[in-house]
Amino acid sequence: MEVKTSLLDNMIGVGDMVLLEPLSEDSFLENLKNRFEHNEIYTYIGSVVISMNPYRSLPIFTPEKVEEYRNRNFYELSPHIYALADEAYRSLRDQDKDQCILITGESGAGKTEASKLVMSYVAAVCGKGQEVNKVKEQLLQSNPVLEAFGNAKTVRNDNSSRFGKYMDIEFDFKGDPLGGVISNYLLEKSRVVKQPRGERNFHVFYQLLSGASDESLKKLKLHRDFSKYNYLSLDSAAVNGLDDAANFRTVRNAMQIVGFMEDEVQSVMELVAAVLKLGNIEFKPDSRSNGSDESRIKDKNDLKEMCELLGIEQSVLERAFSYRTVEAKLEKVSTTLNVAQAYYARDALAKNLYSRLFSWLVTRINESIKAQGKTRHKVMGVLDIYGFEIFEDGDNSFEQFIINYCNEKLQQIFIELTLREEQEEYIREGIEWTNIEYFNNAVICDLIENNQNGILAMLDEECLRPGTVTDETFLDKLNTICAEHLHFESRLSKNSKFLTDHSLPHSCFRIQHYAGKVLYRAEGFVDKNNDLLYRDLSQAMYKANHKLIKQLFPEGNPAKVNLKRPLTAGFQFKASVGTLMRNLQTKNPNYIRCIKPNDKKASHIFTDSLVRHQLRYLGLMENVRVRRAGYAFRQPYEPCLERYKMLCKRTWPHWLGPAREGVEVLMSDLPVPAEEFSFGRSKIFIRNPRTLFFLEERRRQCLQDLATLIQKIYRGWKCRGHFLLLKKSQIVVSAWYRRYAQQKKYQKIKSATTVVQSYTRGWQARKLLRELKYQKRCVEAVTTISAFWHGTQARRELRRLKEEARRKHAVAVIWAYWQGLKIRREYRKFFRANAGKKIYDFTIQRIMQKYFLGLKSTLPSMSPIDKNWPARPYLFLGGVHSELRRIFHLWRCKKYRSQFTEEKKAVYEEKLEASELFKDKKALYPSSVSQPFKGDYLEINKNPKYQKLSIAMEDKVLLADVVNKINRANGKGTARLFLLTKNSVVLADQKTGQVKASVPLPDLTSVSVSTQSDGFFALKLKEGSASAVKGDFLLSSEHLIEIITKIHRMGTTAADREQLDIDISDEFLVQFKHDKVCVKFIQGVPKNGNSVSCKRKNNRLLEVSVPSTA
Ligand SMILES: Nc1ncnc2c1ncn2[C@@H]1O[C@H](COP(=O)(O)OP(=O)(O)OP(=O)(O)O)[C@@H](O)[C@H]1O
Ligand SMILES: [Mg+2]
Repeated sequence: MEVKTSLLDNMIGVGDMVLLEPLSEDSFLENLKNRFEHNEIYTYIGSVVISMNPYRSLPIFTPEKVEEYRNRNFYELSPHIYALADEAYRSLRDQDKDQCILITGESGAGKTEASKLVMSYVAAVCGKGQEVNKVKEQLLQSNPVLEAFGNAKTVRNDNSSRFGKYMDIEFDFKGDPLGGVISNYLLEKSRVVKQPRGERNFHVFYQLLSGASDESLKKLKLHRDFSKYNYLSLDSAAVNGLDDAANFRTVRNAMQIVGFMEDEVQSVMELVAAVLKLGNIEFKPDSRSNGSDESRIKDKNDLKEMCELLGIEQSVLERAFSYRTVEAKLEKVSTTLNVAQAYYARDALAKNLYSRLFSWLVTRINESIKAQGKTRHKVMGVLDIYGFEIFEDGDNSFEQFIINYCNEKLQQIFIELTLREEQEEYIREGIEWTNIEYFNNAVICDLIENNQNGILAMLDEECLRPGTVTDETFLDKLNTICAEHLHFESRLSKNSKFLTDHSLPHSCFRIQHYAGKVLYRAEGFVDKNNDLLYRDLSQAMYKANHKLIKQLFPEGNPAKVNLKRPLTAGFQFKASVGTLMRNLQTKNPNYIRCIKPNDKKASHIFTDSLVRHQLRYLGLMENVRVRRAGYAFRQPYEPCLERYKMLCKRTWPHWLGPAREGVEVLMSDLPVPAEEFSFGRSKIFIRNPRTLFFLEERRRQCLQDLATLIQKIYRGWKCRGHFLLLKKSQIVVSAWYRRYAQQKKYQKIKSATTVVQSYTRGWQARKLLRELKYQKRCVEAVTTISAFWHGTQARRELRRLKEEARRKHAVAVIWAYWQGLKIRREYRKFFRANAGKKIYDFTIQRIMQKYFLGLKSTLPSMSPIDKNWPARPYLFLGGVHSELRRIFHLWRCKKYRSQFTEEKKAVYEEKLEASELFKDKKALYPSSVSQPFKGDYLEINKNPKYQKLSIAMEDKVLLADVVNKINRANGKGTARLFLLTKNSVVLADQKTGQVKASVPLPDLTSVSVSTQSDGFFALKLKEGSASAVKGDFLLSSEHLIEIITKIHRMGTTAADREQLDIDISDEFLVQFKHDKVCVKFIQGVPKNGNSVSCKRKNNRLLEVSVPSTA
């Protein structure tokens, strides 16, 4: 829902002065001040906006603000210039009413800024689109151009508009801007040649010199230095916060946007430069022979440059500065100019040049921004004209007079339009019109503009009068004609009232303007009104070879010489003001009254006297009074009812009928006198602000009560909501709790029940058990008894049966014996011959059968070394039993052997042979049984050390081992490699592998070993053989059994003999070279770790001590 606000909400002071109570100048001022101090720079007087210049940027001109004020009613929000702009725009767009926005106020009050704010607001809210945006941009950009040429720094305002401006913005039926027309009023051209102290010439001169490039300055024959130009005041050339160079760029850019061609801009700049050059032309007196004074140009350089710039022949201009030609009908009189006249002519030319350039600019801009098409457009006019101007020291001149006249006219139109509007509204609303008392300034306007005896008319008359015309003669005329006028004051007038008024100098006259008395100095009035430019100069200008200059001085065209005097400035101004007024009267006016808070251009300072002065001459009090003359306040019924409906029970909270009736009911219910308000067709009119404040106060109280009520209801609602929530929650909680408690209780009961039940069941079970047990016992007892009984019975029966059987058996036996006896007696004679043998055979057969079957199941394991054999059952089976054992053993040995591989077989054969050779013959043998015969202990083929030896061996090496060769001299051993092949025995050096001795096996006759556990053996060689040269070998080895077994096998096959002799005895002879030495083995006491020791006893005896094995 849209929030309805009102101007009356959050008011600081009073937003609308019409509501000021009591209304006095002081309260007015106080209200303005109060609002100003709270940054409320806008205040209304009805629909008029008073704007205070804040002299600083406030955050109230943002796009958000634009949106806030867009399409809102005027009084809906706090006062703002946007509200006025919006009202005007909507009225234009929606009601097809042409609008004008009249902005007035003194210099520096913020008129130009206000006009720009209005334009920017309208630009922001109106339609969009490429074409529309271009138009908007052109309209907005016309401002910087005109400000550069028409604004200047003054003591009052750094950007003071020195011309009046009225701009019509044209819109189509949709409210989109189409274009515009600008009118300019009275440029303060005197500023071009002379500026008051502390002020500057027009901005454009400084902007051009600061901002143009060196190249363009050179083209314009200008220097950057301001001090080179007489027309530029130097003491205030630079203005704080004003960047001329940047502004120049802005202006150039704006000119481009507005549509100026490049050559046009250049022409304009040339003219500006020409004005500066013109100011530098100086004159000196030159006496002529005929005694008349003449002037001469001091330094012609500037003149030359200026002529070059404008394309004028130098001599022509030079002459124009020296002579003045007066043409009258047929005559043409030429007079020389003295120095003062020459300067006057120069300045007049400069002023005219500049002011005509300015007018041309306005025309050129108008050409660009002109709306296309001939259909009637809706128009919004914005008037930014200088406000009432009073110089306190009485230094008011023709310009002020003209300006104040304009303001007087504006005031009049204001009064007329305001009253007319008021009146129209009353008629429209059907309210009775009561006459309003107010000061009508028509009489002052009449004093100035009356065609017969108005001041302007008299001035013109004076100017046109032949003869000597001076400012004094003009003042005299005024004194005569206006003496009786109530608003005219002069010391010399016939009105004796002022004869002694010393505040009124003789050369001055005073006018009582609506805004206050203004003292005008008559000096210069005639001259300025004449605004004379010597024809020679305009003709010289026309001759210029410069397109623009030619256009500016059309009266210089000799073909169109007009001998009539040109129109006076006053006349022209009056005419243009008249046109403006007529124009404004056709439009719906909107007023913005600008007020300057202080003279220092400072924010936050509110100078009471200055503001009081302004509000007086702006006629603001008048304004309020006029507004309040009828009804102070009016409001449409709907918003009124909406705002105050709470004051009456019948209209609160809703009124369902028409709004007007609602308001009537509402008002009748309130203690307000009936004459305080009237009911119009669509609005209620309230006569006194007091009544409105009463309504407001009641509303405020009511709002408080309502707020309390709403608060109360809300709190009640909230509490109830809270309570209901609590209640609901409590029910939920208690439900849950109850459920929980019941569950607990139930579980308790359940478990108690279970316990009780279990006890009961237990008890019952036990009872049952007892019963069952009892029954069982009974049954058992019965059973036992019956068993016993049956047992007894059975036993009795058994005994009886046994007895019976015994008896039967005894009978049978007896009978058998008897039968036997009978049979034996009968067959005794046959039995002795056959039966004995048969019984014997049968018995033996049975015994054998039993023996074999028994043996079958008690056979020992299949291991050949298992010595078990079941015991012999019968003595007579002894032979069979041992034979069966032998057969079984052979059979299982055969079975065992059949599993052997060839290699294993060979090994076993060797082992078998060793056993045959040594078993029970040599004590060493048993320890060798478990050792496998490895043969090649040296791994001769793999060991790189014996590589040579292995190559030297012709046959496969069957055995390779390290043996000790016993030295016959001392019985000590030397390590030798012992190798056996199938043909020979080889001894080699252990370290080098070199063959020491090689004995072919056939040369070996026998081998001798001891019976003991030593490893000594002697290889006996065939006497006379080659290998027996060094005699037999006595060696010792750890693998003696293996070596001898292998030698025995090989020796036997190699020598092709029955077998090699193995001599096993503890004493044998060994042939060493030529000696035979006896080697004797004795049982020694073990010492030095059980080792065998060999010692030489004598030449013939080597004694080997072998430690006893026991
Ligand atoms: N609304 C505003 N916000 C901020 N500054 C402002 C505002 N209005 C005016 N000013 C300041 O005051 C200065 C003078 O304002 P402006 O030029 O509009 O005065 P003016 O009434 O047009 O004077 P003149 O009659 O001399 O042309 C501005 O340059 C600006 O610094
Ligand atoms: Mg201005």
